[in-house]
Amino acid sequence: MAERRQSEELNRSTAFDNRLRPSDFDGFVGQSKVRDRLMLAVKAAKDRGETLDHVLFSGPPGLGKTTLSYILGEAMGVNVKTTSGPVLTKPGDLAGLLTSLEPGEIVFIDEIHRMSKTVEEYLYSAMEDFSIDILLDQGPNARSVRLDLPRFTLVGATTRIGLIAAPLRARFGLVNRLSYYEPEELAEIVRRSAAKLGVDIDADGAAEIARRSRGTPRIANNLLRRVRDYAQVKAGNFITGQVASDSLALLEIDPHGLDEMDRKVLETVCVKFGGGPVGLSTIAVSVGEEPDTIEEAYEPFLIMEGYLERTPKGRVATDLAFSTLGLRRGNGQGQLF
Ligand SMILES: Nc1ncnc2c1ncn2[C@@H]1O[C@H](COP(=O)(O)OP(=O)(O)O)[C@@H](O)[C@H]1O
Ligand SMILES: [Mg+2]
Repeated sequence: MAERRQSEELNRSTAFDNRLRPSDFDGFVGQSKVRDRLMLAVKAAKDRGETLDHVLFSGPPGLGKTTLSYILGEAMGVNVKTTSGPVLTKPGDLAGLLTSLEPGEIVFIDEIHRMSKTVEEYLYSAMEDFSIDILLDQGPNARSVRLDLPRFTLVGATTRIGLIAAPLRARFGLVNRLSYYEPEELAEIVRRSAAKLGVDIDADGAAEIARRSRGTPRIANNLLRRVRDYAQVKAGNFITGQVASDSLALLEIDPHGLDEMDRKVLETVCVKFGGGPVGLSTIAVSVGEEPDTIEEAYEPFLIMEGYLERTPKGRVATDLAFSTLGLRRGNGQGQLF
């Protein structure tokens, strides 16, 4: 439990995020396809003097969805008005926001999958026709009034693309899925963040932090912050590989970047099911999570890192999964040493 709390804490957004958030495409490392596509869309819209198409970002927490939304605002030279799905409970909340917009502004809806169904339906016409029907009065006097909205860009972010209804998804011109970062990209992010924080770091130090960051820039930045404290007090404000590994060991950060749920999933497949194959829903029941959370938030990382494979018969644990958990494959059963 302590471990779980720790990994959640490491991926929680903080004021620190804002300080390290790159403000333009040049400062944004990795995700080159998404970046190129967005830069092209921005240039085309600006050349035509139009507003940007609606944009959707999906992907696990901490990969840069919010950052890209602000970069888009900066690149288009417009304001970004921010809200989030859970806050938009009634159509009036949405109407209030949209009618206050200046032409061309960006509305950023974080966790857009958590918006209520009724609000979502109002959003359809707002996105498509730039108008919204508001119901005035109730009972026999009820009548609806159509309000025209300025053209705006909706930017949505979600960690659960599977929960976005097809009609909503279809209204986004640019749909972008962010994926976990490669270790070299994370190391680059760590180096840039260290420079912003005014702490020296060498290549080994950056690589050591990157390796434990679960493919996630936010975790990399948060680990850097902790290592910096240690370096400042004990190592003359210079982060080497040794300084990074000593301080992360002191903090009991998993050397492979696995969090508690990652471990639970792997243990389930290795120990309970002898390495698989085992179905997704069985794994989900075993670890007490929703199947699509496992599929969208945990599996992609485990597959990318080579711990898990997806086969037609189900999920299969690799030798790496067994060795990392300190298990060995025994006649069809994973066993503790
Ligand atoms: N590609 C990137 N390059 C540099 N820093 C990044 C990148 N992606 C994310 N970050 C940093 O990671 C942190 C979390 O990013 P954020 O955009 O808030 O993630 P999300 O909205 O997807 O949860 C921020 O501090 C941001 O500066
Ligand atoms: Mg965010």
